[in-house]
Amino acid sequence: MARAVKAYRVTISNTGETIACLASQTVLQAALAAGIDYPYACATGNCATCISQLDTGKIDLLPRSDASLGAEQVKSGKTLACRARPRSDIGITWLGRGRK
Ligand code: FES
Repeated sequence: MARAVKAYRVTISNTGETIACLASQTVLQAALAAGIDYPYACATGNCATCISQLDTGKIDLLPRSDASLGAEQVKSGKTLACRARPRSDIGITWLGRGRK
Protein backbone atom coordinates (compact mmCIF):
# COMPACT_ATOMS: atom_id res chain seq x y z
CA MET A 1 0.00 0.00 0.00
CA ALA A 2 1.35 3.43 -0.91
CA ARG A 3 2.23 5.72 1.93
CA ALA A 4 0.18 8.87 2.07
CA VAL A 5 2.24 11.93 1.19
CA LYS A 6 1.52 14.71 3.62
CA ALA A 7 0.50 17.97 2.04
CA TYR A 8 -0.94 21.22 3.34
CA ARG A 9 -3.08 23.90 1.76
CA VAL A 10 -1.29 27.20 1.19
CA THR A 11 -3.45 30.22 0.41
CA ILE A 12 -1.56 33.09 -1.17
CA SER A 13 -3.51 36.28 -0.62
CA ASN A 14 -1.74 38.23 -3.40
CA THR A 15 -3.24 35.97 -6.07
CA GLY A 16 -6.16 34.49 -4.12
CA GLU A 17 -4.99 30.99 -5.03
CA THR A 18 -4.83 27.97 -2.74
CA ILE A 19 -2.19 25.41 -3.66
CA ALA A 20 -0.92 22.14 -2.21
CA CYS A 21 2.47 22.15 -0.51
CA LEU A 22 4.12 18.90 0.50
CA ALA A 23 5.54 18.76 4.01
CA SER A 24 8.98 18.38 2.40
CA GLN A 25 8.57 21.45 0.17
CA THR A 26 9.08 25.10 0.89
CA VAL A 27 6.23 27.49 0.21
CA LEU A 28 8.30 29.02 -2.60
CA GLN A 29 8.91 25.63 -4.26
CA ALA A 30 5.22 24.79 -4.16
CA ALA A 31 4.20 28.21 -5.47
CA LEU A 32 6.63 28.08 -8.40
CA ALA A 33 5.59 24.51 -9.22
CA ALA A 34 1.99 25.75 -9.33
CA GLY A 35 2.96 28.46 -11.81
CA ILE A 36 2.69 31.37 -9.37
CA ASP A 37 5.13 34.23 -9.95
CA TYR A 38 6.15 34.44 -6.28
CA PRO A 39 8.92 37.04 -5.78
CA TYR A 40 12.31 35.45 -5.09
CA ALA A 41 15.95 35.72 -6.04
CA CYS A 42 18.40 33.53 -4.10
CA ALA A 43 16.00 30.83 -2.81
CA THR A 44 18.54 30.10 -0.08
CA GLY A 45 17.55 32.49 2.72
CA ASN A 46 20.04 35.25 2.00
CA CYS A 47 18.37 38.09 0.10
CA ALA A 48 14.90 38.63 1.66
CA THR A 49 13.28 39.11 -1.77
CA CYS A 50 10.70 36.47 -0.79
CA ILE A 51 9.86 38.10 2.56
CA SER A 52 6.25 37.40 3.43
CA GLN A 53 3.71 37.77 6.19
CA LEU A 54 2.40 34.54 7.65
CA ASP A 55 -1.30 35.34 8.02
CA THR A 56 -2.46 32.04 9.48
CA GLY A 57 -1.05 28.64 10.36
CA LYS A 58 2.31 27.23 11.39
CA ILE A 59 5.61 26.83 9.57
CA ASP A 60 9.12 25.56 10.21
CA LEU A 61 11.86 27.93 9.13
CA LEU A 62 14.94 26.37 7.55
CA PRO A 63 18.38 27.92 8.21
CA ARG A 64 18.75 31.44 6.83
CA SER A 65 20.95 34.49 7.08
CA ASP A 66 20.12 36.73 10.07
CA ALA A 67 20.46 39.69 7.71
CA SER A 68 17.56 38.46 5.60
CA LEU A 69 15.16 37.88 8.52
CA GLY A 70 15.82 39.08 12.05
CA ALA A 71 14.37 37.72 15.28
CA GLU A 72 12.05 40.74 15.68
CA GLN A 73 10.64 40.16 12.22
CA VAL A 74 9.99 36.50 13.01
CA LYS A 75 8.14 37.58 16.17
CA SER A 76 5.91 39.84 14.12
CA GLY A 77 4.97 37.02 11.76
CA LYS A 78 7.39 37.73 8.91
CA THR A 79 8.90 34.78 7.14
CA LEU A 80 10.89 33.83 4.08
CA ALA A 81 8.90 31.78 1.57
CA CYS A 82 12.09 30.06 0.38
CA ARG A 83 12.83 28.87 3.93
CA ALA A 84 9.31 28.13 5.16
CA ARG A 85 7.86 24.63 5.25
CA PRO A 86 4.23 24.46 6.31
CA ARG A 87 3.29 22.48 9.40
CA SER A 88 -0.43 23.19 9.01
CA ASP A 89 -2.62 24.77 6.36
CA ILE A 90 -1.38 28.34 6.06
CA GLY A 91 -2.25 31.73 4.65
CA ILE A 92 0.61 33.90 3.42
CA THR A 93 1.13 37.27 1.72
CA TRP A 94 4.30 38.22 -0.12
CA LEU A 95 5.58 41.69 0.80
CA GLY A 96 8.22 42.20 -1.90
CA ARG A 97 7.69 43.81 -5.24
CA GLY A 98 8.71 40.86 -7.36
CA ARG A 99 10.74 40.83 -10.51
CA LYS A 100 8.48 42.73 -12.89
S1 FES B 1 14.59 34.27 -2.15
FE1 FES B 1 16.31 35.12 -1.13
S2 FES B 1 15.75 34.93 0.97
FE2 FES B 1 14.14 33.89 -0.07
